[in-house]
Amino acid sequence: MKKIFSGIQPSGTPTIGNYIGAMKQFISIQENNQCYFCIVDEHAITVQQEPNKLRQQTKSLAALYVAIGLDPKKSVIFIQSEVSAHAEAAWIVQCNTSIGELERMTQFKDKSSKYEKSGVPTGILTYPPLMVADIILYQADEVPVGEDQKQHIELTRDFVNRFNTRYGNGNILLTLPEVSIPKSGGRIMSLQDPMKKMSKSDSSPKGYVSMLDEPNVIRKKIKSAVTDSSGIIEYNTEKKPAISNLLTIFSAFTHISIENLENKYKDSNYATFKNDLAEAIIAVLEPIQQRHNELLDSGELDFILDEGAERAQKVANKTLKKMQRAVGLGRKR
Ligand code: AMP
Ligand code: TRP
Repeated sequence: MKKIFSGIQPSGTPTIGNYIGAMKQFISIQENNQCYFCIVDEHAITVQQEPNKLRQQTKSLAALYVAIGLDPKKSVIFIQSEVSAHAEAAWIVQCNTSIGELERMTQFKDKSSKYEKSGVPTGILTYPPLMVADIILYQADEVPVGEDQKQHIELTRDFVNRFNTRYGNGNILLTLPEVSIPKSGGRIMSLQDPMKKMSKSDSSPKGYVSMLDEPNVIRKKIKSAVTDSSGIIEYNTEKKPAISNLLTIFSAFTHISIENLENKYKDSNYATFKNDLAEAIIAVLEPIQQRHNELLDSGELDFILDEGAERAQKVANKTLKKMQRAVGLGRKR
């Protein structure tokens, strides 16, 4: 049985990009593996959040985890800030990482470019070490994520190798994790700009479908998604990035292959195609939304999260102790 860890930031409501790139993988992977699915609220505060909203989004994301089919009997579902080992391990990771490594991260370059140099929040730079801590604390073998996280997993692998060499005396202290990116849908693009990643923090909500958007909102957003002038429904990421993106989304929501979708719609126009796509998304999201709302209104979620934090803590504390001992923190007992 492999150990799996993944996390999503409660910095907004997840989009169908998060669903296709990450969440959908979680459901199948939980069947035969020991999985830890985290709501990474400490990552979310690397950019300023409105406190009440953050708390509400954290709970909503937990409800979504359960609503998509994550089973608390099979998987450990928990909130990052409720397991203090994450922040503690992150410090040890930072002390064994260089600024150069962190400045090379594409996400750091993107995010920091929005600030004046001296005003860049430190958390944006030290966010990958926290992510490294998340993964190593559970000795994860595999990390299911979207394409944009690949570089952070590579950083994790570099760290693990370095830590084992520096402190292991020939022993493997930490597990070397593998990244797992879906073959199709690892990078869902914005509905308004197929060159840009679909993101829940996009300033224009027209660029994404959120997992809690109402059916009519979904219909409207898909209808106004940009296309091209050729009128042909064909997968070609270079020549037809917008239609290719819609085909990828369609395929992920129906499990019909892109090839079969191209065949099915070869004589159709964009309006019919978009109409069917919207209905396919709604068919999957509606029952998830219903379950999400029921969970938010019940005490069930608190029970799941309490139990999740407790189970996570046991595993995380064990690895944290091991790391502390390895680097020489505390007393010898
Ligand atoms: P985040 O929203 O940044 O917390 O991302 C949570 C997970 O969703 C990560 O595994 C990301 O790689 C994945 N993800 C985010 N945006 C997309 C996207 N547009 N397409 C595919 N996966 C995504
Ligand atoms: N940084 C990830 C993102 O923004 C979220 C995340 C935090 C994560 N810790 C993780 C993903 C550990 C996988 C494993 O998408």
